[in-house]
Amino acid sequence: MSSAFTTERVLSVDHYTDRLFKFRITRPQTFRFRSGEFVMIGMKPAEGEKALVRAYSVASPAWDEELEFFSIKVEDGPLTSKLQKIEPGDELILGRKPTGTLVLDALTPAKRLYMFSTGTGFAPFASLVREPETYEKFDEVIVTHTCRLGAELQYSADVIGSLPEDPLVGEEAPEKLRYVSSCTREDHATKGRITDLITSGQLFEQLGVPRLNPETDRVMICGSQEMIADTKALTMEHGLTEGSNAKPAEFVVEKAFVG
Ligand code: A2P
Repeated sequence: MSSAFTTERVLSVDHYTDRLFKFRITRPQTFRFRSGEFVMIGMKPAEGEKALVRAYSVASPAWDEELEFFSIKVEDGPLTSKLQKIEPGDELILGRKPTGTLVLDALTPAKRLYMFSTGTGFAPFASLVREPETYEKFDEVIVTHTCRLGAELQYSADVIGSLPEDPLVGEEAPEKLRYVSSCTREDHATKGRITDLITSGQLFEQLGVPRLNPETDRVMICGSQEMIADTKALTMEHGLTEGSNAKPAEFVVEKAFVG
């Protein structure tokens, strides 16, 4: 196996639905990343076989001693058909070079940070809501997670629900963070796609905040290709410009892991 990877051990696995699960693995001391970044992971290949790896957002914050991931299960997915069967004690391979644009460094300072996610696109935000720097940089943090069904929101509800007891952000997060979950194919307190909630203004009314404004707001977007394209277009219509590590600006996007 190439030295671009280390071998890590699975510590825990939690299945939420037949489509979603979370797992935690050991973190090598040499592994450094910024909250919100992604890394390549895969099953440990048999002798002589080529490793099959995919990009996964790290869902745990940069300070955590373990690494957490939130994954989709696809029955005939080349990687996830196997990955969904992992158990504690199994070995996985982990890339040595995390990277990505959903990082605080890629945004210019402002008052409010929005994180818009669908499906497993919540993963990088599970990292960032547990990152103290998020609350140092922003006065208000609004996280949205939209899924087809209510059961698919369990992971984000658990992560957000655990924040008051968090050792590092337990004080700031409950004061500054608001979580909006919505479903598109089942009854839920908030119903509808994030794009519709933005367009109709329902999201802002519900939160009692003005519409997106480049003067005060920064945005991070993570979901499917289509969700990103549509949410990005709306964000740009509100006057925000896209940033990157090299040139921080007002919003950033990243595609969630699929298959
Ligand atoms: P919908 O049920 O209307 O398709 P998926 O599981 O397919 O990735 O979808 C996750 C969530 O993202 C679903 O609630 C889905 O709504 C929503 N979604 C899918 N496409 C878009 C899009 N282009 N813009 C906004 N939300 C989307």
